[in-house]
Amino acid sequence: MFINEVTAIITGAAGGIGRAIVLDLLQKGAKVLACDVQEDGLNDLAVQCSEFKGSLLTTFCDITQEGDVKSCIDLAYQQLGSCNVLVNNAGILRDGKLAQLDPNGECIGLPLAQWASVIDTNLTGPMLMTREILLHWLPSGTQSNLIINISSMSAKGNSGQSAYSASKAGLNALTSSWAKEFSEYGIRVVGISPGLFDTPMALNLEEEDRNKMISFTLAKRAGRPYELAKLVETIILCDFISGKTIEIDGGGSF
Ligand SMILES: NC(=O)c1ccc[n+]([C@@H]2O[C@H](COP(=O)([O-])OP(=O)(O)OC[C@H]3O[C@@H](n4cnc5c(N)ncnc54)[C@H](O)[C@@H]3O)[C@@H](O)[C@H]2O)c1
Repeated sequence: MFINEVTAIITGAAGGIGRAIVLDLLQKGAKVLACDVQEDGLNDLAVQCSEFKGSLLTTFCDITQEGDVKSCIDLAYQQLGSCNVLVNNAGILRDGKLAQLDPNGECIGLPLAQWASVIDTNLTGPMLMTREILLHWLPSGTQSNLIINISSMSAKGNSGQSAYSASKAGLNALTSSWAKEFSEYGIRVVGISPGLFDTPMALNLEEEDRNKMISFTLAKRAGRPYELAKLVETIILCDFISGKTIEIDGGGSF
């Protein structure tokens, strides 16, 4: 698939990585529906892209809500005419150990709502988006369509991130399962596992943790969102990539 043939839906498009993917695809002439829960961020993105050659549409979409997901995908078909790439990028990080002692020696468990919000956004959200797009894709027979799931190196397990790590490990399993389920329709499913990238999400990290993560990389720096966008571009261009989650982490040893 060439980039100027792409009509993509990108979730979490107002954030660091989503925005970089939108900018890269639009510069190469793709049509993009950028969605997010942050409407200010989407407005700002539209201003940033006003001179680009591709077409951009933005919409509010909370990927955890079935109604929003359906409206978002319907909008792509109504306004852009089609959709052949879905990038499940939206995600949240809510760190916390499963149980820990407070300064008074009392043991506190991770609140269920905190666990659920991470699983809903990072795992159930991509499932809802993918299920909805498949309702359009499967009836049209074998076509070249692509789903990219943005995972994380934390899928390997990380202290203080059990919900986040579980959500991303689950997403990796979905990448592999969906690739096997839908290859007969010409659909590829590919994951990307980033290490540390400089985005608003990474600003939540303590300086000490950030430096430690960087020290584990061979590149000795955090990734830049446009570098991840280049990998998305490569996956779109190369039809032989499917069913795998590709690591992009500056040679990190997680
Ligand atoms: N930045 C990193 O170091 C890093 C590392 C590994 C993986 N990732 C993954 O990359 C993806 C993008 O993260 P980022 O670093 O750009 O973070 P970010 O916080 O800059 O962007 C995430 C975006 O997702 C949106 N979002 C959150 N919940 C949503 C919902 N329910 N519906 C729709 N949009 C929602 C947010 O509003 C935000 O704009 C995430 O899936 C994240 O887990 C990031």
